Amino acid sequence: MQKAIGIFDSGIGGLTVLKEIVAALPDENIIYLGDTARVPYGIRSAETVTRYSFENTQFLLAQEIKMLVVACNTASAVSLEAVKKEFPLPVIGVLEPGARAAVRTTRTGQIGIIGTEATIASKAYEKAIARLDAGIGVHSLACPLFVPLVEEGWTDNDVAALVARTYLEPFKATGIDTLVLGCTHYPLLKRVIGRVLGPGITLIDSATETAKEVAEVLGKLKWNKPVKERTVRKYFVTDTPARFEMIGKRFLGDDLLRAEQVKVGGV
Ligand code: DGL
Repeated sequence: MQKAIGIFDSGIGGLTVLKEIVAALPDENIIYLGDTARVPYGIRSAETVTRYSFENTQFLLAQEIKMLVVACNTASAVSLEAVKKEFPLPVIGVLEPGARAAVRTTRTGQIGIIGTEATIASKAYEKAIARLDAGIGVHSLACPLFVPLVEEGWTDNDVAALVARTYLEPFKATGIDTLVLGCTHYPLLKRVIGRVLGPGITLIDSATETAKEVAEVLGKLKWNKPVKERTVRKYFVTDTPARFEMIGKRFLGDDLLRAEQVKVGGV
C-alpha cells in the first residue's frame, strides 16, 4: 500500500524509532510529526497528553497514513488504548515491545525502567511486565533531566555523564541485569548510560523492538509499499524547525533533512 506510516513524538525522541523503522523497512513512506511546541509531555497530566495524542493523530490521518506509531513512551503509557479506540487504523506503541524484550532478556528476574515522570507514575511498564511474568521484580525511576539534555543535543558530554551517574548509580544495588530505556529520547544517551552501568546490564531500546513489530504487522496485513515506487519521508514540527533539523541531521545522518512547521490542535 502506497500510504505512509505515520509517527509522532513530543519532539525529536521519536526519530530513534523512525531510524529503526527505516532500517527495517527502507522502502516505506514515512510522515513524522514532532510536537516541538508542546514538548515535554512527560511532566503533563494523562488528560492533557491524551488530548495531544488525539490532535497529533488527526493531523497525521489528514496526511493519508495507513498505520500509526506512537513513538513516545509517555503518550503510549497514558493514551494508547484511547487512541486505538478512537481511530480506525492499526496503532503501535513503544511500551509493549520494550517490555516484551526486557522479559525475554533478564536472567536475574530484576528489570529496571527509566522514563519520564508521567510514564513512571502511570505504572504502565509494571503492568505490562506483570502480564508477561508476574514473578519479575521491577525497579523504576523517572529521569526528567534526560529529555532536555537530548533536546539540547548534549548527549555525550560531562554534564550528561554527571546527570546519568547521579540518576543511575543507585540501580547497581538492585540486582537488575536489564534496563529499559522507557523514553524514546533515551537511546541517544545510550553511550553515557552504558558507561555508568557497565557491561553486566543490558540496555533495551524500545525503538528496535517497535520497528520489528511495525514490520510484522505490515507484513501480516500485506500492506507493504511496492518497492519500485519512489520513497518519500516528510517531517513536520509544531515549532520552528531549526533545532529539530540540526539535531535530526546529526542523528539520522541525513544532510537534506527539512521539516515543515504546522499547526496542530490550535498550537
Ligand atoms: N519522548 C518522550 C517519551 O518517550 C518523552 C519526552 C517528553 O517528555 O515529551 O516519553
